[in-house]
Amino acid sequence: MKPRITVNKVRKVWNADTPKATTAIDGLSFDVAPGEFVVLLGPSGCGKSSLLFMVAGLETQTEGELLCDGMPITGPDTERGMIFQEASLFPWLTIAENVTFGLKLRGEFPEKRDRVAQDLLMKVGLADAGHKRPDELSGGMRQRAALARALAMQPKVLMMDEPFAALDIQTRAKMQDHLLQIWRVSGASVLMVTHSIEEAVALADRIVVWTSRPGRVKEIVSVDLPRPRKPRDPAFIELQLRLGDLLADEVDRAFREMEAAV
Ligand SMILES: Nc1ncnc2c1ncn2[C@@H]1O[C@H](COP(=O)(O)OP(=O)(O)O)[C@@H](O)[C@H]1O
Ligand SMILES: [Mg+2]
Repeated sequence: MKPRITVNKVRKVWNADTPKATTAIDGLSFDVAPGEFVVLLGPSGCGKSSLLFMVAGLETQTEGELLCDGMPITGPDTERGMIFQEASLFPWLTIAENVTFGLKLRGEFPEKRDRVAQDLLMKVGLADAGHKRPDELSGGMRQRAALARALAMQPKVLMMDEPFAALDIQTRAKMQDHLLQIWRVSGASVLMVTHSIEEAVALADRIVVWTSRPGRVKEIVSVDLPRPRKPRDPAFIELQLRLGDLLADEVDRAFREMEAAV
C-alpha cells in the first residue's frame, strides 16, 4: 500500500542563519499508511510539534521531503486537519456552527451543514450541545467538539498535538474511546503526539519513538494487541516498560547534554 504521509530525511532549523538557530529535527524518516494510527512519542523539545506544523503545511522543512499521497506538501489543505491541546473553537459561534464552519466557507448549504453537525455531534457524544457556546462546555466536551469540527471536512489525515493533556484521567479515557470509535469508521490516518506511554499503547497501530533534539527516529514499535486494549494485560504492561526504557535513555541523554552546555 502506498503511504498516505511520507517523511523522508527531514531537517528543520528554526531561525536559520541567526545566532538563535535551533536544529529541531535532523534526518527524520518514517511513513504513515492510509487509515493507520501512528503515535509520536519523544522527549520534550525533540521536534514533534514542529513536524505536525510542517505536515499541516503551516511551516516548511529546511531539508528533506514531506509528501501526502506522493505529492509534496506545499501549504495547508482541508485533507490534513489539526487538533491542538486546547480546543481552538470560536467563542461567539454555537458548537454546531463551529463544527460546520469549514463547510460554510466551502459554500455548503445550511441543510447539509445541519445534517453533518447532527451526525458528528452524535458520534462524539454531544448530540444535545449543538446550540450551546464553547464556554458553556467542559474541557472534554470542547475537545470533542474540536474533533467533530476536524472530521466535518472528512480529512485524510488527522493530526493531534497532545489533544487530551489538559483533561483529567477519567475524561481522558473516555476521549480515547470516542477517538478510536470515530477513527475506525472515518478511514483517516491519525498522527498523534502524546507524552503518555499508556495512551500511546492504548491507541496506536505503531509508535514512533524519537531521539532527543535534534529529533529523528530512535525506534518504531508496532502494537500488535487486539482492541479494546486492557492496561492490565501483561503484554500491554511489557510494552509500556519497553517504551519507558527507550524514552528514559533519551531523556537522560538530553539532560547530560544540557549539563555539559552550562
Ligand atoms: N516557532 C518556533 N520558532 C523558533 N523555535 C521553535 C519554534 N517552534 C519550536 N521551536 C524550537 O524547536 C525545538 C523543538 O520544539 P517542538 O517542536 O515544540 O518540540 P516538541 O513538540 O517535541 O516538544 C525546540 O528547541 C523549540 O524551542
Ligand atoms: Mg510539542
